[in-house]
Amino acid sequence: MNILILHGPNLNLLGERDPEIYGKTTLDEINAELQKKADSLSVPVRIFQSNHEGSLIDHIHRERKWGDALIINPGAFTHYSYALRDAIEAFSKPTIEVHLSDIMKREEFRKHSVLDGLKNVRRITGRGAEGYYEALRSLTIK
Ligand code: DQA
Repeated sequence: MNILILHGPNLNLLGERDPEIYGKTTLDEINAELQKKADSLSVPVRIFQSNHEGSLIDHIHRERKWGDALIINPGAFTHYSYALRDAIEAFSKPTIEVHLSDIMKREEFRKHSVLDGLKNVRRITGRGAEGYYEALRSLTIK
């Protein structure tokens, strides 16, 4: 199983951005750990981060044949990008939406995810970096 891992806007600032909410682990550290865990599971992963909605969508389109599953933290696009929702619906393979913070316990605007209701999407929220590793594990359980 090939797994696409996508990080949306502002996640490149992890470690320095609101560490009391998002933790002190940097994106490079999360990606290194994901790569290490994927290697130990013999699962090929392709990891990508962008601050741009269109780049994330282009990436899903470009990799849609290679990827058998998707792990995505859409950042703030979670709350308003119907274009990203459409891309994930069209991808149609198992997808896990990961949020470091518990979006249900924060500001009102964060409580709504545009991915709600998509049949191919499950959500892991509020587990910090561990949420990404759990997503990887759950996709690779036979
Ligand atoms: C986030 C939550 C979003 O509301 C926010 O815009 C982010 C990060 C999270 O991982 O908790 O950028 O997706």
